[in-house]
Amino acid sequence: MKPSLERVSLGFFPTPLHELKNLTRIMNGPEIYIKRDDYTGLALGGNKVRKLEYIMADALDKGAEVIITTGAVTSNHARQTAGAAAALGLKCQLVLSGDEPKTRQGNFLLDYLMGAETYCVKPEEADRQIDVLAAENTGKGQNTYVIPVGGSCLPGIISYVDAYQEIKEQYPLEFDAIVMAVGTGSTCAGLNVGARMAGHKTKIVGIGVGLGDREWCQDEITRLSNLAEDFLGTAPSSVDQIIVFDEYMGSGYAIPDDKVRDAIKLLASSEGVLLDPVYSAKAMVGLLDLIEKGYFKKGEKILFLATGGCPEIFGFNHFLS
Ligand SMILES: Cc1ncc(COP(=O)(O)O)c(C=O)c1O
Repeated sequence: MKPSLERVSLGFFPTPLHELKNLTRIMNGPEIYIKRDDYTGLALGGNKVRKLEYIMADALDKGAEVIITTGAVTSNHARQTAGAAAALGLKCQLVLSGDEPKTRQGNFLLDYLMGAETYCVKPEEADRQIDVLAAENTGKGQNTYVIPVGGSCLPGIISYVDAYQEIKEQYPLEFDAIVMAVGTGSTCAGLNVGARMAGHKTKIVGIGVGLGDREWCQDEITRLSNLAEDFLGTAPSSVDQIIVFDEYMGSGYAIPDDKVRDAIKLLASSEGVLLDPVYSAKAMVGLLDLIEKGYFKKGEKILFLATGGCPEIFGFNHFLS
């Protein structure tokens, strides 16, 4: 039996998996399916709810009273952590890189509504701010648990190893590829390990969103895959099973371009599916281009992982309208 980790219930699982029939017809290429991890439920959902079910179980086990995490001011991870902490009756402190916005909108608004304390700092000051807050909490006798950026830690990766099993139960045939956005790479790493454990040849295709180039993403996904494989006692996966494209990141992280806007409009108007401008729409730009270029072909079955992030549609309202 493979080693497993504790899980606390925070979201709604399994998330739906269905075909995007209109998009498949429009693209006239492979059959395109979508896994709705934008529907994980808690606090408007997203891939972090899946990770947090495992991470928060570890936090509770360690007697946490205060949860600290970090990310950009627009962070989806921070918003879902605020929701998880609220649901579990824990205090939440968010150390957010970037200038404090003049008005609260998107994720930053939801952080506030869910009762999280927010500290906006320069990126290079984030670690020090976390240490200061943790020391203050200790001084007050409060036990602090720090979640790394993006929930990129062993429990987070394992949640996506298990997500692969969920996909396999919903769709017993093997997908030719699963396509998703790469931030920290832990979602990709978990699915990669899950696919190898299932004995599947499914390609795990990550689309970089601007946090690093192809080599950096590939190294991170390999390192995080190996972390999970060490824990699970399975053979390390080889680098060529992980495919990363970094040509769809445009001008950089959280800078959407016209192609991102077109992808958001296409999915919204053809399927009623809402993608976010920072992660999932960039991944969709990659998927559409790879179909147009013939990398994904007619007869293949491709799964797109919708990872959430919808609140930032409102953060980017001027750009999108
Ligand atoms: C909406 C969305 N998609 C994808 C990702 C990337 O996930 P990972 O950090 O596991 O690569 C994130 C991470 O913050 C996200 O918020």
